This record gives sequence, structure tokens and C-alpha cells, in this order.
Amino acid sequence: MASIGEEVNPIKGYSLHKEYPCQTKYEKYQHMKVILIMVQSLNGKITKDNDPDIYKWTSKEDQEFFFRMLSKHTLTIMGSRTYEAARENIKPYGKRRRIILTSTPDRYRDATIPGQIEFSSELPGELITRLGDEGYETALLVGGAETNRQFFEAGLVDELYITIEPRLFGKGKQIIADGNYDGELALESVERLNEKGTLLLKYKIREV
Ligand SMILES: NC(=O)c1ccc[n+]([C@@H]2O[C@H](COP(=O)([O-])OP(=O)(O)OC[C@H]3O[C@@H](n4cnc5c(N)ncnc54)[C@H](OP(=O)(O)O)[C@@H]3O)[C@@H](O)[C@H]2O)c1
Repeated sequence: MASIGEEVNPIKGYSLHKEYPCQTKYEKYQHMKVILIMVQSLNGKITKDNDPDIYKWTSKEDQEFFFRMLSKHTLTIMGSRTYEAARENIKPYGKRRRIILTSTPDRYRDATIPGQIEFSSELPGELITRLGDEGYETALLVGGAETNRQFFEAGLVDELYITIEPRLFGKGKQIIADGNYDGELALESVERLNEKGTLLLKYKIREV
């Protein structure tokens, strides 16, 4: 039974402490690792103003890293606005499976290719449970801000690869939309990717 200040996870009826959701890892999900990969300005913006084209300001080195990660992991999850921003580049490719979260999967019926490009209105917990049951061990979460918020609120993210480009944007979307999350991270590595000072940080969620 949930008490005041707790939110009941509608999927399994587990309760989720609003104050520290990222530290609550549901037992059911423990076999499935979710890795967040994002690139941001030094002040935490993932878009410049509202321009969805991030390739205008991200470095070649970050793009190479991102594509290396995509080639190592078959499963990628994103929100519908990220899909819209990248849709030109999202084509069926080998065993890669892309799952796009949207409240209106029917709107994307023509773009659906089962096993390769799929649209789902599941909650993050439902999706990760289903994919874990299908045998997946890892999923890459590639944004955007709103989708990231949902995964952090559900305590589902295990690792973060954050590239920091040496830029400052006065306006733009933040890496995780405001919400009810509060996580502690442990730094695993820092890598300088180029001369101008693009940094790649790897963090793990610290279980406390
Ligand atoms: N710098 C980076 O690394 C990076 C990475 C990714 C994206 N971006 C940028 O971020 C922007 C997009 O971020 P965003 O926060 O606006 O949007 P987003 O997280 O990509 O997508 C949010 C939308 O996805 C759908 N959605 C998400 N979770 C859902 C769920 N559980 N069930 C049903 N629908 C769900 C909803 O749309 P509907 O229901 O209306 O379909 C929601 O409005 C783009 O401009 C993109 O270029 C940057």
C-alpha cells in the first residue's frame, strides 16, 4: 500500500518514492541495463534554442562515439520528438531495433517495420519489463528531455554517457526535463575527445 508522498507504479503496484526515484530499482528490471547517451552544452542544453538539428553544433568526435555505441547495441529507445528530429537517418538496418515512445502509435503505422522501427505507448517500466522478458540485456536511451525524465522518475537508468561540448547556449532544452528525480552518480571515466576540449563523461547510478 502506498503512503502519502509515494507514487504507485501502475504497472506492478510497487510504490515509488517521489523524492529518490532514481535510487529505487525495481527487482523485476534488474536484469536489463539502460544506458543513457546524450550530448550537451556545458550549461546542460541538448538543443540550441529550439533547433532540433544537434549536428550543427556537436563535434565529429562525439558523432563518431555515438555511432560506435549504436553499432555495439541493437536496441535503442527514444521519444517521438527525437524520432521526428532524426527521422531522415532512422532506416531499417541489420538487427537494429528502434522503439519510439508516443501516445499515438497509430499515427506512425506507415513508418512501422516490426522488429526494426516500432512505436509504443507503454510506460518506461512496462516497456523495459517486456524487452527484458524478450531476452534483451541492454537498451540505449537516446532522449530527449521528456523521455529521459520519465526513465529517471521510474528509476530505470543504470549508466550515463554524457558528452560535453565546450559551448554555452542561452536557450534550449535541458538534458532531463524537470521532474521528481534525485540521483547520486559515480564517475567511471573522463575522456577528452578533441583539441577544442569536448569531454566524454561516463557515470553509473550509485545505488544507495
Ligand atoms: N543533444 C542530444 O543528445 C539530444 C538527444 C536526443 C534528442 N535531442 C533533441 O531533443 C529534442 C526532443 O526532446 P523532447 O524532450 O522535446 O522530446 P522527446 O523526449 O524526444 O519526446 C517526447 C514525446 O515522446 C512521446 N512520449 C514519450 N514518452 C512516452 C510514453 N511513455 N508514452 C507515450 N508517449 C511518450 C510524447 O509525444 P507524443 O505522444 O505526442 O508522440 C512526448 O511528448 C529534439 O529537438 C532533439 O533534437 C537532443
